[in-house]
Amino acid sequence: MKTAVVYFSLNGNTDFAAKKIAERLHAELIPLQPEKAYPDSGFRKFFWGGKSAVMGETPALTGQPFPFDDYQCVILGTPVWAGTFAPPLRTLIRQSAGKWGKKRVAAFICSGGGPGKALDKLKAELGIPAFAASLSLIDPKDRPGEENEKKIAAFCGDIERACS
Ligand SMILES: Cc1cc2nc3c(=O)[nH]c(=O)nc-3n(C[C@H](O)[C@H](O)[C@H](O)COP(=O)(O)O)c2cc1C
Repeated sequence: MKTAVVYFSLNGNTDFAAKKIAERLHAELIPLQPEKAYPDSGFRKFFWGGKSAVMGETPALTGQPFPFDDYQCVILGTPVWAGTFAPPLRTLIRQSAGKWGKKRVAAFICSGGGPGKALDKLKAELGIPAFAASLSLIDPKDRPGEENEKKIAAFCGDIERACS
């Protein structure tokens, strides 16, 4: 099955994990980029990113819309922002609203302290009953470790089983 890793990353942690996952699964790597970049440091980063997440924004994305029909298996990656997924994922999901149930969808989430209910919120936005696989990592680029590598390997194994 053709697989894509579609993700947003502001400070590189989700990007770090996305690249490892795509490499293991020979999947296409598709970063989402908002037209108007979020501030990536200091107070402004938390203020504007947090506000955007809390408001449930759908920021415009650069480039062509994700070619949804080209992939049978989609792995979504996002940081946790204010207890939920980052707004660029909402834009992506709404571009193919109502169709996600037809795909195998897996998700990984990077946070500073834990995922909270962010995976459930992502699932609700997608309108699917369950993920084919899910993974939660704590700042994998900034706090690398053997444990993360094991979790990534297990996640990829679950996806291989679900998407073959
Ligand atoms: C705007 C904003 C809000 C955040 N809110 C949370 C949060 O609610 N819970 C949490 O554990 N981490 C939170 N974080 C930390 C990030 O989820 C975490 O550092 C993540 O690994 C960053 O991923 P990235 O480097 O791919 O952007 C927040 C970070 C930002 C920028």
